[in-house]
Amino acid sequence: MEDLSPKPGDLEHIETASRDEIEALQLERMKWSLRHAYDNVPFYKESFDKAGVHPDDLKALSDLAKFPFTVKTDLRDNYPFGMFAVPREKVIRIHASSGTTGQPTVVGYTENDLDVWGTVVARSLRAAGLRPGNLLHNAYGYGLFTGGLGVHLGAEKLGLTTVPVSGGMTPRQVRLIEDFRADGITVTPSYALSIIDEYAAQGLDPRNSPLKVGIFGAEPWTDAMRREIEEAFDMHAVDIYGLSEVMGPGVANECVETKDGLHVWEDHFYPEVIDPNTGEVLPDGEKGELVFTSLTKEAFPIIRYRTRDLTRLMPGTARSLRRMEKITGRSDDMIILRGVNVFPTQIEEQLMTVQGLAPHFQLELDRIGHKDQMRVKCECTADYAAPEARMRAGQDLRHKIKSVIGVTVVVEVEDPGAVARSEGKAVRIVDNRPKDG
Ligand code: DLL
Repeated sequence: MEDLSPKPGDLEHIETASRDEIEALQLERMKWSLRHAYDNVPFYKESFDKAGVHPDDLKALSDLAKFPFTVKTDLRDNYPFGMFAVPREKVIRIHASSGTTGQPTVVGYTENDLDVWGTVVARSLRAAGLRPGNLLHNAYGYGLFTGGLGVHLGAEKLGLTTVPVSGGMTPRQVRLIEDFRADGITVTPSYALSIIDEYAAQGLDPRNSPLKVGIFGAEPWTDAMRREIEEAFDMHAVDIYGLSEVMGPGVANECVETKDGLHVWEDHFYPEVIDPNTGEVLPDGEKGELVFTSLTKEAFPIIRYRTRDLTRLMPGTARSLRRMEKITGRSDDMIILRGVNVFPTQIEEQLMTVQGLAPHFQLELDRIGHKDQMRVKCECTADYAAPEARMRAGQDLRHKIKSVIGVTVVVEVEDPGAVARSEGKAVRIVDNRPKDG
């Protein structure tokens, strides 16, 4: 794999600034952001007043803990534009997340917000090893989803030749990567697996592809999956994180030279990790729920937003800005199976260690009598399709899940290609259990 480390002069000043300088900037910006939200969004005025706090109460960064949280339903209750802090005419871009149930969540950006977004995405793509003049194949979906257009904005800002291919039409994805000689690809890790399959279907070896780096996010993925993708493409694979409510992609990104977690661009997004049960702020290093406060956003300031994503904060390494560990999962995706907490990423980790199984999977939950049952639906690779080989692979996975995670599951090893493929975010859990009870 090519060395894509930054050269002196590649980075922005803030990426190597002292902690004192970073924190001074954060404090100044946080004061502005709290005031901006309080003065311009009735929801924040009401929620701060109710909690008995005022923006002037913030004297130090740690005072943020006095302010109330914001949750997804607050955004839904203010559908569509009630959380905007500027007149609608100043909002030059809208995105929305569809959500599985109910109201979509709507977010907006001023011209300045788009400029900041472009800057942090450009920083992310640079951290991944891309440089002006490189060609980027952007396979995140374009539309209301922030992935496609968000990455696009930063790619153009960095000076990349940007190919807005979006998701889907997998044979064409392979063709364009090859014909245009893409240096980088931005795509969900699950869709990257479909693209790998398509290479094989076309009789091509992805190791011979021109790609040097893939930038994967929008869903949880493990280091085991990283190794699988890096090996398949003979390229670097780095993690990009973000969420619509906070900005979109480019809230945090891994550096290609270290691959040790994602540096949070905390000059624009202030992270906290809290105990999800008590709401108490946890010290760096402890695992809990990630919470974000925007420091510079104009159209859609967001104060102490509970992401439901589980991780821990760690000191900076390749950059001065703090890192967050790869996300284990969302608290909503945690399955409690007979008293044991299970995340789909834990299943993924085990699946990737079993010979003869492809990296595609889905978890189906059923209630049998009074007991919950989890079926791991996966598929064999073509060379393990014989009944005994397949059975052995399935038993191997079942055994590993039992001994490492501590739960008994049913493993179903299906034919190659049988597990539903994603063109964006993978659906990992199919819950057939009755809703009441
Ligand atoms: O998924 C933004 C994005 C697009 C990020 C492209 C990266 C690349 P939403 O649709 O609002 O926005 O979904 C946000 O996706 O709260 C996490 O649960 C999950 N997520 C995003 N990035 C990662 C990641 C985009 N790198 C939700 N690892 C977040 C794990 C991620 N989960």
